[in-house]
Order: sequence, then structure tokens, then C-alpha cells
Amino acid sequence: MKIKLHDKCFTSFISAKEIDAALDKMVANIAADLGDEIPIFIGVLNGSFMVVSDFVKKYPKPCEVSFVKLASYDGVESTEDIKHLIGLNENVSGRTVVIIEDIIDTGNTLESIYDIFDNKGVKDLRIATLFHKPEAFKKDLKIDYIGIEIPNKFIVGYGLDYNGLGRNLPEVYQIKNTQRMINIVLFGKPGAGKGTQAEFLKTKYNLVHISTGDVFRFNMKNDTELGKLAKSFIHEGQLVPDSVTIDMLQAEVEKNTDANGFIFDGFPRTTAQAKALDAFLESKNMELSATVALEANDEVLIARLLERGKVSGRADDQDESKIRNRFDEYNEKTAPLIDFYTTQEKFHSVNGIGTIAAITERLSAVIDSLNVEA
Ligand code: IMP
Ligand code: MG
Repeated sequence: MKIKLHDKCFTSFISAKEIDAALDKMVANIAADLGDEIPIFIGVLNGSFMVVSDFVKKYPKPCEVSFVKLASYDGVESTEDIKHLIGLNENVSGRTVVIIEDIIDTGNTLESIYDIFDNKGVKDLRIATLFHKPEAFKKDLKIDYIGIEIPNKFIVGYGLDYNGLGRNLPEVYQIKNTQRMINIVLFGKPGAGKGTQAEFLKTKYNLVHISTGDVFRFNMKNDTELGKLAKSFIHEGQLVPDSVTIDMLQAEVEKNTDANGFIFDGFPRTTAQAKALDAFLESKNMELSATVALEANDEVLIARLLERGKVSGRADDQDESKIRNRFDEYNEKTAPLIDFYTTQEKFHSVNGIGTIAAITERLSAVIDSLNVEA
């Protein structure tokens, strides 16, 4: 599930059930450690209202509940952001206090709390947090109870907000980083208009069109190292291994470091290649934004190709049964890729019948709907 808050997109991350299970464990551990001591549970507002509410409902023994808020001193000029507590009316001297946090990130808040409670004569101060980001935590302070450790990515829901929104959500969502690039895989049967549309899209969005067929031909014609390697497989009658194709793609990507993104055409053709492409892009800190299939029914495509064959003289465009074979191969190989990219929520299908301009419009609508920074 995806949601949008203000300008950012978030995806489901931790379910209400998982949160509930984490709370059960925290409650059990804390209740066991505190024995018959009556603790004061103190939530740090605003974020902790939901976790404290659910936590104390589960707590099996007598306890007190209070909330505090950390505030900056008003009207005091300071280079450091010195915080003070508001809302602590209870006398905590000689008591067992358990601070309950929704999330501990850098630990700055936690440090302020430690400092403030240091001189209040608390008998036993313990810290519990539902969420913790160990990679972000920079302090040498003890956190006694941790519900769920999460990676260092921004989350919302279950009390946590993004600019005020999202606190009411019963489950937790993780931010989906907006991409800096538009990286697209273009699918389509022969004749679907991939090459034509790629030309328009690359100008409109400042993309680089990488057609693996063209890249192969270029490398082999110019006898590059990779071209020689590819030829050695082709001469043996073998398919060029995916790793060689990926190396060629890598060289193309590295030649175009200032591009807004890439249109991949002709690759991937198999699920194994799709996985290899994902791994390669990840190694470059890139990812696919979308895969788009240009769809047209076979009869329309055959008519188009036969027309093209008359003009170009390309033998494989002049024979209807050869064309149908290429379609069969496409159907057989591409179908699993549709599943692969649908699972990643990246698959889009665009009607490829109409004027060139109308089809460019449809493709642009898909690209414009992606969560990519301008
Ligand atoms: P600290 O960095 O540990 O001091 O955390 C400071 C505060 O930042 C927390 O109490 C939260 O209010 C907020 N915060 C930190 N990480 C997140 C997050 O992923 N989502 C929402 N709020 C966060
Ligand atoms: Mg907080």
C-alpha cells in the first residue's frame, strides 16, 4: 500500500500486528524486571501518545502514567538547543521512572532527557522505545528496552508524523525516496514503435536511449574489448552471457553521467536479465522508475511491419510467418517479465495504436506520474 503525505510517498512497512507483538514483548520484559515496584511511565509528546496508550493498556500491574514535552527555551539566545521539560507535575524523587519513546533516532532527545532527570533524585531511570534506528544513533547512552530496530529511513504512522501528518495511522509506513533519475525499460513487439517513441522521449526528458542491439553492433564493429568478447561467443554459436551485456550497458551508462536517466530497449529479455539489471543499477545507486509495454494487436503490427519491409527491404519484415515467430518469442519471454515488474509495482502498459504524437502523450503521462524529482 502506498500513501502520499504532503510531497512525499510512503509504502507499508510495519503492520499493526507486528507493532502489537513488539509491544507485548516490551510489556512482558518490563513487567518482569520491575516486579512489584509501581513505575511511572512517562511518554515524550507528541509522538509517543499512541505507543504509551497501547503499552499501558497491556501493562498487567499497577502503574502511573504521565506525559512530558521537550521545549526549547523561548527568548534565550543559544548556540546549543538546550531543552527543558514541560508537563512533569509528579514528584519523581525516589521513584522508578520508565521513559517511553516512540522512536530514538540520533539520540539527541534521549540525551536531553537523561540530563534533565539526572538531578531529580529518581531511584531507577529506564528508557524504552518502540522504534530504534541503530545506524543513526550516535550516543553512548543505554536504551533498556527496544521494540523494533529499523534501518535509517524516515517513517510515519503510529504516532509519528511527517510535517504534522500521519500520526493517526494505525500502522507504519516508510518513505519512498524520490528518485533523481528517470530510468525506463521499454517493451514492445517488433513494430510497436519503441524506436520512434524513444527518440521523442529522450529529447523531451533529456534521457539516453540505450538499445542493446545498437550497442552490440557498435562494439563489434569498432572491435572494442567487449565487442571482441561478444564476437567470440557469437562465433561459437553461443548466446552472449548476461554479464557481457551488463558490462556493455555499464560502459554506456558511465559515458553519460549527466543524463537525466536512461531508456533501456532490448534488455532485459528474461527474468534473469531483469535481476542482473536491478543489481547493476543498484551498484550505481540507481533504480528503474518504470517499465512500459507498448501494446498493439498483432494484425496492426503485421500490417505496419510489412509496410516497413517494403520500404526498408529488411527480410525479416517481409515474411508474415517470420513476423509471427518473433511475436511468439516475445510473448513467451516477456510474459514472465510482466509478472516480475508487476510485483515491483513498476509495470505499465500503454496503448500503442494511434498517431505518433498521441502515443508520445500516453507515454509522457506515465513518466509524469512517477515520483521523480523535477
Ligand atoms: P532523536 O534524533 O533521537 O533525537 O529523535 C528526534 C525526534 O525526531 C523523535 O522524537 C521524533 O519525533 C523525530 N523522528 C526521528 N526519526 C523519525 C522518523 O523516522 N519519523 C518521524 N519522526 C522521526
Ligand atoms: Mg519523539
